[in-house]
Amino acid sequence: MSHAAAKVTAHNPPPLGVYLHWPFCTAICPYCDFNVHAAHKNTATPQDWLAAYRAELRHAYELRPHGAVATVFFGGGTPSLMPPQLVGDILHEIDALWGLAENAEISLEANPVSAPQPHLQALAGAGVTRLSLGVQAFDDVALKTLGRTHSAQQARTAFEAAQAIFDSASFDLIYARPAQSLDDWRTELSAALALAPQHMSLYQLTIEPDTPFHARAAQGKLPLPDEDMAADLFELTQSLCADAGLPAYEISNHARDGHHCRHNSAIWRGGDYIGVGPGAHGRLSVDGRKHASLAEKQPAAWLAACAAHGHGWQIKPLSDAEAAEEAVMLGLRLHEGMALTALEARGIALPSARLKSLQQDGLLTARDDALQVTAKGRLLLDYIIGRLLA
Ligand SMILES: C[S@@+](CC[C@H](N)C(=O)[O-])C[C@H]1O[C@@H](n2cnc3c(N)ncnc32)[C@H](O)[C@@H]1O
Ligand code: SF4
Repeated sequence: MSHAAAKVTAHNPPPLGVYLHWPFCTAICPYCDFNVHAAHKNTATPQDWLAAYRAELRHAYELRPHGAVATVFFGGGTPSLMPPQLVGDILHEIDALWGLAENAEISLEANPVSAPQPHLQALAGAGVTRLSLGVQAFDDVALKTLGRTHSAQQARTAFEAAQAIFDSASFDLIYARPAQSLDDWRTELSAALALAPQHMSLYQLTIEPDTPFHARAAQGKLPLPDEDMAADLFELTQSLCADAGLPAYEISNHARDGHHCRHNSAIWRGGDYIGVGPGAHGRLSVDGRKHASLAEKQPAAWLAACAAHGHGWQIKPLSDAEAAEEAVMLGLRLHEGMALTALEARGIALPSARLKSLQQDGLLTARDDALQVTAKGRLLLDYIIGRLLA
């Protein structure tokens, strides 16, 4: 590959989002390897958190001041544990710095345990427009295996409340779970679709290193699906969702028209996002070059760094090769694919022989200015990306 950085200036900044990480959960799920900490260990006050988030936002603004913020994503951990006042104060700060676009999308991730109707109402009052609920399973036995502390009925109640309150509501499910059959998943996903969601994130269970699930799998105590079964589950998911009017727009994300997550879509298209909070990643165009930021993961250390230095970040420029690789890895996840002219404009030349052979194998198409992964290719996305970037 040959690479040259796209020139990003104050006159043509990529769209801007803000990702804010809230690192606490009431219970830590045995499959999860996100930057999460037990909520009872949070000894800082909401005022301490506000001061630290404000400091980091101001620091980011000094580095990357151009353009209004189009999307904000409160992710975690479990940001539905945040006091609504804190959410509102953070949004005011973002508005005072960059300005919030008029129809900004403000997403927040929630757990059914911390999503009673009045709390959701208060979060909407603070400015949240889109709720993403972690459901994981509509099956009480599976919820127990996943270490969840809510029932399927509690998840349904929280989701129905969210649908009535927010512009857009989504839920996450995990499939390809231990001992899950195709029929089990067909029944469960059909029941989930009957709730008429506008958006769903459907993830295959990943066994992450250093998690209790990893240890259990290593002892042979988790009967996980093999590759063929995982592929069948993926294909069943695609067809049931498409038939119900929620086709995939990204490998794991399904939406009705007009309900794509704008924040994540902008990231997959290579947009800039400020990442604030413990362990948050960010991507910022500074002086025409993409920079990657990564914050200190431990909440207490992050708070102390913000108090001492105004931020808890390390930031480094991405090389042309790193920026190009990232653009391809993210862009090919999207069903819309990547514009070939945009790749060219960035000086990204994909190896033509391999491109051709991937096309001949029916894994990729390159026409009408779009490089797209085919339905067959979606099962082999990592392989395709590996071939294109090798
Ligand atoms: C931050 S959580 C969502 C909100 C909230 N923390 C909750 O779990 O209810 C993000 C999502 O990542 C997914 N996830 C986490 N670990 C996973 C794993 N090992 N395999 C598949 N999906 C996973 C889950 O679907 C989870 O809802
Ligand atoms: S899945 Fe959600 S609730 Fe469970 S530990 Fe991960 S972030 Fe926390």
